[in-house]
Amino acid sequence: MTYCKISLNPVGTRSKYPDYRNNEFAALFGSLRANPTMNLTRAAFKRESIRYTTGLSISGVQQKLSVAINDHYQLEPVTTGGHYILKPSPEEFPHAAENEHVAMRTGVLLGIPTASCGLVSFADGELAYITRRFDRLGDGQKLHQEDLVQGFAMPSDNKYSCSYEEAGALILDMTNGRKAVVLDYLQRIIHAYLIGNDDMHLKNTSLQRSAGNTTPYYDLLTPNYDCLFAGTFENRDAGDFLALDLLADGFTDAFEEYGYYTGHDFLALAQRLGIPEKPVQTFIATIAEKMPQLTATVDRSYMPVDMKCAANALITDRLRALQIGL
Ligand SMILES: Nc1ncnc2c1ncn2[C@@H]1O[C@H](COP(=O)(O)OP(=O)(O)OP(=O)(O)O)[C@@H](O)[C@H]1O
Ligand SMILES: [Mg+2]
Repeated sequence: MTYCKISLNPVGTRSKYPDYRNNEFAALFGSLRANPTMNLTRAAFKRESIRYTTGLSISGVQQKLSVAINDHYQLEPVTTGGHYILKPSPEEFPHAAENEHVAMRTGVLLGIPTASCGLVSFADGELAYITRRFDRLGDGQKLHQEDLVQGFAMPSDNKYSCSYEEAGALILDMTNGRKAVVLDYLQRIIHAYLIGNDDMHLKNTSLQRSAGNTTPYYDLLTPNYDCLFAGTFENRDAGDFLALDLLADGFTDAFEEYGYYTGHDFLALAQRLGIPEKPVQTFIATIAEKMPQLTATVDRSYMPVDMKCAANALITDRLRALQIGL
């Protein structure tokens, strides 16, 4: 059985490409005509990315390119007007692209608004992660968005400089008190903990103003982006549990007792931010209910077997931790 490099659902025999479902391919690329195999080899990408990243508005640490579908339906690097961002696996972290793709799919399964994404191939067969830009409207217009470092009016280097509690309070300010947006943020933090994504810093969350909103306030978070099962790379040090501390002023008694975050900590964070316990408990219950689908999705992913095993062991363990204290 082949699984779709977009949804990870089984691909039927009538599909145009053997490893993509037609409807999901058309939704991501606009039609079935785009070619999911690039002309570029991985090595050529490395050379091109130096040329194309000058003037690229998407910052970030990892090498990436702005990409458009050209008149020959090929994915092609561009300096302006790209509707996609292409992220290959960094040389030092093989299969990071496959890992990011399935990490994003686990968010989708849990109902988290998530950037459209999939895997495409370099000319030499290596897979790369591709995501459709959510800040571009069809007519080329840009939606206004700001990440949390910009929200704090801090330099980019400060992306680890506060807690999720402070970041949540900022979201409340930036949205003029929309608790639903803070709850969305809280769910994304819980998801990061579940999958061992230890790099959900202030630049990995952004707020967006819907078209037509002329107020200074933001309406919602952008779709989720930059998720990773970070703990599954053999050569990557086990970092902290999360990129930021949960609370502004130290750790809960439960953390001191267990030595890792449990449900207690996420309920404490919710309470600080004025979010009721119930939706947080419901979200964790949803994770428990969906655990069979989550592990099946990991199994269907394009990660190597040892990475799949590590990912499934991790989410099973983190769910157990999240269920403590509910
Ligand atoms: N689908 C998307 N649409 C629009 N903008 C996006 C999308 N995905 C990512 N971005 C923007 O591009 C930036 C870089 O992307 P991303 O965070 O995935 O890269 P990174 O290099 O892994 O970042 P980091 O610095 O966190 O390691 C993000 O901070 C975000 O502002
Ligand atoms: Mg990032």
